[in-house]
Amino acid sequence: MSTTLQDIYNGFAGTYEQNRGQFDMTEVLETFYQRVKDKPGTLLDLGCGAGEPLGRYFIERGWAVTGVDFSEQMLELAARYVPQMNTIQSDLRAVDFARDQFAAITASYSLFHIPASDHPSMFQKFYRWLQPEGKALFTYATEEYTGSSEFDGYKEFMNQKLFYSHKNTDALYADLENTGFTIESADYRTIGGETFLWMTVYKPC
Ligand SMILES: C[S@@+](CC[C@H](N)C(=O)[O-])C[C@H]1O[C@@H](n2cnc3c(N)ncnc32)[C@H](O)[C@@H]1O
Repeated sequence: MSTTLQDIYNGFAGTYEQNRGQFDMTEVLETFYQRVKDKPGTLLDLGCGAGEPLGRYFIERGWAVTGVDFSEQMLELAARYVPQMNTIQSDLRAVDFARDQFAAITASYSLFHIPASDHPSMFQKFYRWLQPEGKALFTYATEEYTGSSEFDGYKEFMNQKLFYSHKNTDALYADLENTGFTIESADYRTIGGETFLWMTVYKPC
């Protein structure tokens, strides 16, 4: 039987969490938090892992946070470290929520593990689940990480081959705008030695 991404994250959940502090997210978190309008509110964190640092940051500021992840080992750590976070064990593509349920949605280092062909339907869900003027923050893989303008394949991370997928940035921006999102920012950031594109988008009124 082949090893799935879920098996891999289950296998290295503890090590991932121990090393998470090497990726300093302070600037990402503070910048996004300042941009969110109504505070505190409701946050959906997709691919929440052990709830750090995203879930914890918002919970400490009074938010109600729902985290989704398919790794039961990651969610076990989340229950220990960020017990106030409501968690759902599921594939990101399988969950559904009510329209306008969340003031903010985050997908930190997770969306790039889903085939890029599924990204437009995920963006449509983000749009539906966000309140008007709600914002989403997500990490997007680009050539700076994979070496190709478009990618569907495997890259090594923590001694394991993980699936990554992305389109070129023009196609990404077109998908977002076709969904109805306004792109607020697209910033390349190097965190822990890895460069990714950090996107903030908002749902106009
Ligand atoms: C690199 S970790 C990021 C964790 C956390 N968001 C952070 O910033 O540290 C990626 C997380 O996404 C989860 N994940 C990846 N693909 C997923 C999928 N299709 N459905 C649900 N969770 C997924 C993994 O289990 C893992 O916890």
